[in-house]
Amino acid sequence: MAEKQNYEKIVIVAFGGPSSSGKTTSAKAVNALIKNSRLVHLDDFYYPDHDIPIDPTTNLPNWDCPEAINFPRFTQYIKDIRDGKNLDEVIDTMEPDTDLKLSETDEELLLKEIAHNIPNLDKSLLVLVDGFMLFHDPEIIQLFDVRLFFHASYKTLKQRREARKGYNTVEGFWVDPPNYFEDMVWPAYEISHKYLFENNDVNGRLKQSYRNDLRIREIRNETGYHLYTLVKWSLEAIYSQFQECR
Ligand SMILES: Nc1ncnc2c1ncn2[C@@H]1O[C@H](COP(=O)(O)OP(=O)(O)OP(=O)(O)O)[C@@H](O)[C@H]1O
Ligand SMILES: [Mg+2]
Repeated sequence: MAEKQNYEKIVIVAFGGPSSSGKTTSAKAVNALIKNSRLVHLDDFYYPDHDIPIDPTTNLPNWDCPEAINFPRFTQYIKDIRDGKNLDEVIDTMEPDTDLKLSETDEELLLKEIAHNIPNLDKSLLVLVDGFMLFHDPEIIQLFDVRLFFHASYKTLKQRREARKGYNTVEGFWVDPPNYFEDMVWPAYEISHKYLFENNDVNGRLKQSYRNDLRIREIRNETGYHLYTLVKWSLEAIYSQFQECR
């Protein structure tokens, strides 16, 4: 049985940012690399399909707003992990396997780097939390020790989202209807995240105060970026915060 006293530290890492920015792909790649890590997907905390808010303009379910997620349950789950309470309670996930994976050579290189930077990592538990609404609320941001903000341009995100088959939901499978990205996904992201950005412009940079005080690390994942680079950047943020974590 996993217990808090088995670990020197429990480090909780947020992989946040808009839909199709590469959060799940990167979090799963880090999880595959690090034995003492576990994954938590915010998508496993969606309300049942019939409770997803209906957008009054399009009359479509809005899967991309914070109200679609059971945040009280999610917040309690993360707090319990922090307190070492439900370390054995692994959620049966709805997330499918990822398309992109690290090569064996990349894994070997990264493992060497991890061993060099955090030699005592195997005494800690790394909790990798993947979700599109981890940074919309400053109180939620406080749940995490390391804060990775994945991002890409509107064009890249739209292309990736539209290339996807769909999403498993609590009660079925959701396929975006035409124009769902521009009508629903992007506006819901923009409304909930603009407060973090200079001039409220989600295409620009995060406000300096959020980068410095909340130590949010931006990870741009544009077309052509390799998974190796994304994982390397994620790990670098983990190295720089690790010693400070309780
Ligand atoms: N750098 C990249 N190069 C090529 N394809 C990529 C890259 N990053 C992500 N993708 C692809 O984009 C799609 C979305 O990636 P992923 O599932 O990781 O996004 P996400 O941030 O978890 O999105 P969501 O919030 O909707 O779950 C996947 O099909 C993935 O393979
Ligand atoms: Mg995902």
